[in-house]
Amino acid sequence: MNKPQKICVIGGSGYVGLITGLGLSEIGHEVVNVDIDRARVDQLNAGKSPIYESGIDVVLRRNLHNGRLRFSTDLQSSVKNSQVVFVTVGTPSLKNGQIDLSQIIEVANQISSGLNEYKIIVIKSTIPVGTIELIKSILNEKAQQDCFDIVSNPEFLREGNALKDFFFPDRIVLGGDSDKAFSILRYIYKPIINREVSIKGIQNISKETDPVPVIQTDIASAQIIKYASNAFLATRISFINEISGICEQVNADIKEVANGMGYDSRIGHSYLEAGLGFGGPCLEKDLRALINTVDQDKYQTDLLQAVLDKNDRQVASVVNKVEKLLDTNLYNRTIAVLGLTFKPETNDIRNSLAIRVTNELHKRGAVVQSYDPVVNNEILSVDPNLKPCDSAYSAAQGADVLLILTGWKDFLHLDYKQIYSNMSNPAIVDSRNLLVQSDMIELGFKYVGMGASR
Ligand code: UDX
Repeated sequence: MNKPQKICVIGGSGYVGLITGLGLSEIGHEVVNVDIDRARVDQLNAGKSPIYESGIDVVLRRNLHNGRLRFSTDLQSSVKNSQVVFVTVGTPSLKNGQIDLSQIIEVANQISSGLNEYKIIVIKSTIPVGTIELIKSILNEKAQQDCFDIVSNPEFLREGNALKDFFFPDRIVLGGDSDKAFSILRYIYKPIINREVSIKGIQNISKETDPVPVIQTDIASAQIIKYASNAFLATRISFINEISGICEQVNADIKEVANGMGYDSRIGHSYLEAGLGFGGPCLEKDLRALINTVDQDKYQTDLLQAVLDKNDRQVASVVNKVEKLLDTNLYNRTIAVLGLTFKPETNDIRNSLAIRVTNELHKRGAVVQSYDPVVNNEILSVDPNLKPCDSAYSAAQGADVLLILTGWKDFLHLDYKQIYSNMSNPAIVDSRNLLVQSDMIELGFKYVGMGASR
């Protein structure tokens, strides 16, 4: 690294902001992460991450210690003292499917007062196409002409793999219209682009040796690259779930089918795990936003809508499996739910399909005893439909069905003999195809997975 850049990350204690700040300071820049949440800012300055993510604490403490990273609530002076401002604030969905832009508009207003000299504003938050024009107009109200450039630099971070994805990305996308801004961002990302990053404890699994591809394009195309990538991943998941349903009809094994498909180099193995479907804060939200990008009277996005509809049906299909296995309705039956996060290796329950399943079980009169290896019981106790337990064994105590909703590896190593003897009716519905059917049947369980997986 030649000369570190002074960088400010707004929304810096949120998921994307925190990873961005950690990553940029780790590769040598001077970073201040700004957030309005004082409690989180204090916690982070004390070296404790509010987010569960592999490797995060080590990188956080190292960069706090070497002075390249700090956390602050003072947006104005942080912006003034920075050359590049990354915007990573949340853009949640509203009930009508539109995106709530209030945080981003507020931030744009505040940044505009801090534009004392030329700065690059980098938008990492996923915002609908057209919104960057809105940000530009807000900034232009107070800023002098030519005082800033805007670049769209979408993130492709998977929770649980976020630091790896930051340091070893498949590509970096830059959308804008300023060569000066492009070259400064290329400079900022240089150690990553040139694959010079080596971090103890964070393994690079990429076999690529060529520089990371940087796609320089216009703003709208950069934004659509992000939306279309997430929509494509969601489509693969709904597709494999559709095939999984067909497998159940003809007694073919979806795991074998997905594996056989994946060896085709045009298809590949990833995002072909059939199961409960896609949850989490991004895939569904981005898919809805992409659908809302166009006026449906002028252009119908039927395929994308079908991907969403298929995913919505997965919840009912899993609950129906529980009911079918019990051969009765769920009223007063006890269901032990294992796993509540939207996927393993994260503590995030935002838009978790597991929570939607427990709500549906509750609606049908079931008693839910739940366990998750990382979600704090205090968080769960706010949901009256969940009875949080301290272990998988206590969740299974007296249960009529054990229902696996998140594919935590921990659940592979449970003592299923003990679970068998604790349940009042030893039956398993495995919505993530985590366990081996024959092993469970040998122990005496009734077992149902997804897509006749064996
Ligand atoms: C996603 C995108 O992958 C990432 O690039 C983007 O920046 C943010 O959104 P994330 O939300 O962390 O990342 O989750 P991801 O790992 O993509 O999984 C999403 C959901 O799909 C999870 O609920 C997961 O369990 C499910 N899934 C994933 C499947 O059901 N089958 C699969 O084969 C893969």
